[in-house]
Amino acid sequence: MLIRKPLDVPTSEITPETQYHDRRSFVSAMGGLIGSAFLPQITKSKGMGANLGSLEKSVLSTNEATTSFSNAARYNNYYEFGLDKEEPAINAWRLKTRPWSIKISGECLKPQTIDIEEFLKLAPLEERIYRMRCVEGWSMVIPWVGFPIKSVLDRVQPKSTARYVGFFSKADASQMPGLDNPVLDWPYLEGLRLDEASHPLAILAVGMYGQILPNQNGAPVRLIVPWKYGFKGGKSIVEIRLLRDQPWTSWAKATPDEYGFYANVNPSVDHPRWSQKNELRIGEMSRRKTLLFNGYVDQVGSLYNQMDLTKNF
Ligand code: MTE
Repeated sequence: MLIRKPLDVPTSEITPETQYHDRRSFVSAMGGLIGSAFLPQITKSKGMGANLGSLEKSVLSTNEATTSFSNAARYNNYYEFGLDKEEPAINAWRLKTRPWSIKISGECLKPQTIDIEEFLKLAPLEERIYRMRCVEGWSMVIPWVGFPIKSVLDRVQPKSTARYVGFFSKADASQMPGLDNPVLDWPYLEGLRLDEASHPLAILAVGMYGQILPNQNGAPVRLIVPWKYGFKGGKSIVEIRLLRDQPWTSWAKATPDEYGFYANVNPSVDHPRWSQKNELRIGEMSRRKTLLFNGYVDQVGSLYNQMDLTKNF
């Protein structure tokens, strides 16, 4: 990834969790009114309001203070809309998120294409407050809204030959000015081993902070794998493909010495050009220690028993 200057966001910009929940009840109470007044882009998308209604908070959520919505929605990586962190928030309005469908294909008994409105009803939506760690050395805590990838996998019934899952992002040059830049081999492709994709922590997110996803954060549906570096979270997914072989994911293809397929957060395995031992939580003044598997070691450690994590980085 192209490293840019670290963000200098004052601690006051972090939204304490209580305040964030207060704000949510306020937004809920105002319903469509506040949506149309303050979120014109979001409410323009057909079929859904800005607010996702009352949501169960998953027990898999962290209690850590959440990053402010404005930092999460203004400091982004979405190269299809520009390489600078500020560009996706400026350019991603071009993305048409309706109509939209997700094709589920490959090594499964029931391949199918699901319209986004039906996709949103595949499983109950839940709030998942996750720590997110970017390979560039910054981190955030984001309240995502989504459901486990496993709900989708169960529906299509993977064959015994399926060992990996590929997640393909949309690539449409008429909407995405960044596709002119050959920095990556488009479409953006991410992948997981089937057992990783089936883990309860791995979700498909359709919202954040109780609202549908802003385009720059990957609307209408994106991948979230909290124990891996942020680049695993492919945005604006149009195809989920069950595969026999490990896919050549976009970053691993572009710079194989720097970005591996696994991309597990690991303070003991440095990036060839910088240390991964600590991180700047956006909104804090000093760096904090990075935790193995981003602090999710108890839940996911067994997925990597007997694996050399230095080789499988
Ligand atoms: N998905 C697509 N399609 N294109 C991208 O450039 N960037 C990745 C990931 N998903 C990217 C993508 C990277 S490098 C990161 S760190 C996260 O998205 C950033 O997600 P956020 O902007 O919601 O924080």
